[in-house]
Amino acid sequence: MSKLIPPVRGMNDILLDTAPQWEKLERCAARLFRAYGYTQVRLPLLERTELFKRSIGELTDIVEKEMYTFEDRNGDSLTLRPEATASVVRACLSNGLLHNQQQKLWTAGPMFRREKPQKGRYRQFHQLNVEALGYADAEADAELITLSARLWQDLGISHVSLEINSLGVPESRTAYREKLTDYFRSHESELDEDSRRRLERNPLRILDSKNPAMQSIVAAAPQLADHLDAESSAHFQRVRELLDDAGVDYVINPRLVRGLDYYTRTVFEWVTDRLGAQSAVCSGGRYDGLVAQLGGRDTPAVGWALGIERIVELLRLESDDAVAATADIFVACVGDSARRVGFAHAAALRAEFPELRVVFGLMPAGLKAQLRRADRAGARYAVIIGEDECAAGEISLKPLLSDDPQRRLTLAQLIALLREAGENQAPAS
Ligand code: HAM
Repeated sequence: MSKLIPPVRGMNDILLDTAPQWEKLERCAARLFRAYGYTQVRLPLLERTELFKRSIGELTDIVEKEMYTFEDRNGDSLTLRPEATASVVRACLSNGLLHNQQQKLWTAGPMFRREKPQKGRYRQFHQLNVEALGYADAEADAELITLSARLWQDLGISHVSLEINSLGVPESRTAYREKLTDYFRSHESELDEDSRRRLERNPLRILDSKNPAMQSIVAAAPQLADHLDAESSAHFQRVRELLDDAGVDYVINPRLVRGLDYYTRTVFEWVTDRLGAQSAVCSGGRYDGLVAQLGGRDTPAVGWALGIERIVELLRLESDDAVAATADIFVACVGDSARRVGFAHAAALRAEFPELRVVFGLMPAGLKAQLRRADRAGARYAVIIGEDECAAGEISLKPLLSDDPQRRLTLAQLIALLREAGENQAPAS
């Protein structure tokens, strides 16, 4: 036998054990995005490296050390996308979607960052992204944040809290940056290596330091909130009022600066204490300068992305489902002619009840073995067809999750009964 080929570090196979949570999240999110007027776009995984350098910023961890970048056969430098916002803006510009119009778009899929893998942090991970382009007012920020709060509600997730901050505009930030640099320079001997490296290039990121030894210096640093321009202050105030009106709780975290350079004004992060070190489950903010930075006209925009793996883990922790059901109805047939009839019945049931998972027992086996499979699949009903049923033109319906008796029915009666029982629901998972 030849040697097995291992997977790439930090890149996971997503298997059956989390399938119900993935499905639930994707279903709930797609429904909500639609309800808020967002349409889906599907974008390439590969972009020109320049796109991320110019948007995320040359001095960020992502661009400095985490991108999967390679030279294409024609010499172009390409990068597997580390995030989707830059791609969404690029796609809008490539397709002329921002000419005198606004866009509310969502997209989902894998992102790639060569971070140090650990629980909740992967080199291939998945995001759901929502982006509103062409909207300058605080209502857009507040609506997007409210949308995320609604998503947790619909998913039944309660262990998350919201942190918000305002980064102001580049002009006010430059003045603040100088003050901050002076402050940290006066404490240079107390800075750790990472912070010293950031001091000249990206001092705001020092505020983000997780090093306990740095906390007192960071706490005493000048605050961005005291250096905001008047318009950014008013914008932030309005966002907070709208969130108050909507009943969305938040705390203001003056140290929330985010790891991507394109943000202006509002930034926010939903965090949880349930996932250890990887506490951010959904983050975003306003990026009013990005479209122009990428060659378009000045266009305000705001958006967020959630980490699917992290939300799925929260759902898994909060759900008590022991088995992940893969079937609602299991069609178990014994004998050649019964299998032929059952095969057609399964198709008829799927056509009648598009939301139900109707599984036909593909592996020929005795009835007992097939019913065991039905149990393992978590099915609520077995539809049994043996020689007797076949001869009578009927089926036997066996409820698997209750003590209700087994009964003989025609296919039409079965359909009527399932309909009466309200059985065309998507699985609750
Ligand atoms: P981000 O904070 O880099 O923002 O990522 C968004 C979310 O993706 C994080 O809150 C986290 O849940 C998840 N995430 C990030 N890195 C990893 C990883 N290595 N493994 C697992 N999950 C991860 C952005 O990407 C921005 N594009 C968000 C945005 C959209 N801003 C405006 N619009």
